[in-house]
Order: sequence, then C-alpha cells, then structure tokens
Amino acid sequence: MIKQISIGLTGALLSLSMLSAQAAPKPDEAAEYRQSVFTVVKWNFAPIGAMIKGDVPFDAAAVARHAQYVEMMSKAALEGFPKGSGPDAVKDTEAKAEIWSNWSGFEAKMSDFQKEAAKLAEVAKGGDQAAIKAQFGKTAETCKACHKEFRKD
Ligand code: HEC
Repeated sequence: MIKQISIGLTGALLSLSMLSAQAAPKPDEAAEYRQSVFTVVKWNFAPIGAMIKGDVPFDAAAVARHAQYVEMMSKAALEGFPKGSGPDAVKDTEAKAEIWSNWSGFEAKMSDFQKEAAKLAEVAKGGDQAAIKAQFGKTAETCKACHKEFRKD
C-alpha cells in the first residue's frame, strides 16, 4: 500500500518535472527561437524598405501583409530571452549579457519596437505611401536602438 502510494507520488513528481522542463526551454532552444523570430522580422521588414526606396514596385497589399507579420513578431520576441540564455550559456548568440543585467532597459526597447510596429501595421492598411515611409523609418530606429545597446555586431 505504502509502496503504491510512493510509486504514485513519484509518477506525479515525474510528470510535474516534465511539465516544468517544458515551461523553461533550454538556453540553446531559446536562442534558436529568438533568432528565428528576428529572421521572420527581417524577411517581412526588408521588402517594405525595398518598396519605399523604389527598388521594387509599391504594392499596398504586400506592405500591409508584411507589416502585420512584423507586428506579430514584435510581440513574440521577448519570451525568447529567458534568464540564463545569455552568452555565458549559449555559444551561437549575438545577445549581450546586458540584456539580463539591464532587463527593464531591454524591455523598454522591445516595447518601443512593439508600439512602432503596431503603428506601421495600422498605417500600412491605409496604403498612404508617405505615411508608410515615415512610420517605416520610426520602426527601423527601434531596431537600431536595441541592436546598438544589446546585440553584438
Ligand atoms: C529589443 C531589442 C531588439 C529589437 C527592437 C530588434 N532586435 Fe533584432 N536582435 C536583437 C538581439 C538581442 C538579437 C540577437 C539574438 C541572438 O543572437 O540570440 C537580434 C538579432 C537580429 C537578427 C539576426 C537573427 C539571426 O538569425 O541570428 C536580425 C536579422 C534582426 N535582429 C533584425 C531586426 C529588425 C529588422 C528589427 C526591427 C524591425 C529588430 N531586429 C528589432 C534585439 C532586437
């Protein structure tokens, strides 16, 4: 009887620990995730820039779609930076240790990005090229501001 209870307990503890392993991804996995998020950001951000420059013909529907993905990814990025996934734990990362030593500063930069990306998605729906250009510039500033402080070049 006691043996059964303890086996049952062990089982419960085991499944709990599996769950918590899921909740806390491995440092390498977190780095892979955030790099993928930023790959998607770039994939969608770059064509808007190319259209603004005139390298590619302007396509309002494509701009609106790309801007929507950038906005979504801006919301998905932060969770890719769990504690302990910095350069001392992950070999293949450009994330600086300052992200975690100045977490509120990093969060603020992410929040700037989210705000400007949301505005870009909003403006893009309207299709006004001049407004899109201005808002693209503001959004690009938020990428640069964060990379300058928190990403190795
Ligand atoms: C709040 C901070 C922050 C903002 C905002 C931000 N980035 Fe980054 N970005 C990073 C960090 C940190 C890394 C390095 C991640 C790593 O290597 O683990 C990165 C990596 C990247 C990468 C390389 C991904 C790879 O494959 O390694 C690209 C491309 C990129 N960012 C593009 C952008 C663009 C474009 C924007 C704006 C539209 C942007 N980022 C906004 C912090 C930011």
